[in-house]
Amino acid sequence: MQMLVLSGSRDRAGRTAQAIKALENGFERGGGAWDTLFLSELKLERCRQCESDGWGICRSEGKCIIEDDFPAVEGKIRSVDVVVFATPVYFADLSESMRGFLDRLRRIRFRRVPTGAPGAPGIPGTPGVAPTRGTPAVGFCLSGGGGGGAPNCCMNLDRILQTCGFDVVDMILARRQNFEMKLPILELTGEWLATKLSSVATTPARLER
Ligand SMILES: Cc1cc2nc3c(=O)[nH]c(=O)nc-3n(C[C@H](O)[C@H](O)[C@H](O)COP(=O)(O)O)c2cc1C
Repeated sequence: MQMLVLSGSRDRAGRTAQAIKALENGFERGGGAWDTLFLSELKLERCRQCESDGWGICRSEGKCIIEDDFPAVEGKIRSVDVVVFATPVYFADLSESMRGFLDRLRRIRFRRVPTGAPGAPGIPGTPGVAPTRGTPAVGFCLSGGGGGGAPNCCMNLDRILQTCGFDVVDMILARRQNFEMKLPILELTGEWLATKLSSVATTPARLER
């Protein structure tokens, strides 16, 4: 079992990093292997909103024209069994590195629903969320301040992961005030992902590789 962890924190010794470590420990105990990337250390531009209508070739061709680290990270996402998105809470929302990366991922994952597609949401032929669920994902939001913005951050992260077509199997929220209590839960989550993922993912299908 392979896991990719994407961190939206720039602090390799901060609380988000400690939470990721707990998750990795559990995943290792369950026999899995993982890779962790700190998004703020990568060369990742923001979306350029290409073309006059703002849609760009990302929509039709499923790739981004910007030549930076984005395609490599996107390729890694496609090659693993589960992806964890871990972000500190900034302004009751995702961190900028996580937000900027997911803004671009959403662009290439979002598909126009084919006219008449069975079960397609919305109006046939108009843009909509891909009807098939894909790679299992877990979201993690850590608020180190008052904690008031953590639920909103979780909600926003869940929404964007759904739009990207992930099969979101869990959203975990931790606050500075309950951080120590959440660490063992994160370890258990890692072990659960490594050993039980096939039974928790809601569909066996993945996004196309
Ligand atoms: C720009 C910025 C905005 C923040 N906004 C919030 C917030 O809205 N709510 C909150 O509880 N904490 C907020 N915090 C605190 C962070 O969530 C906290 O520092 C967190 O522990 C950072 O994670 P790290 O240890 O991985 O760096 C903010 C911190 C920064 C730097």
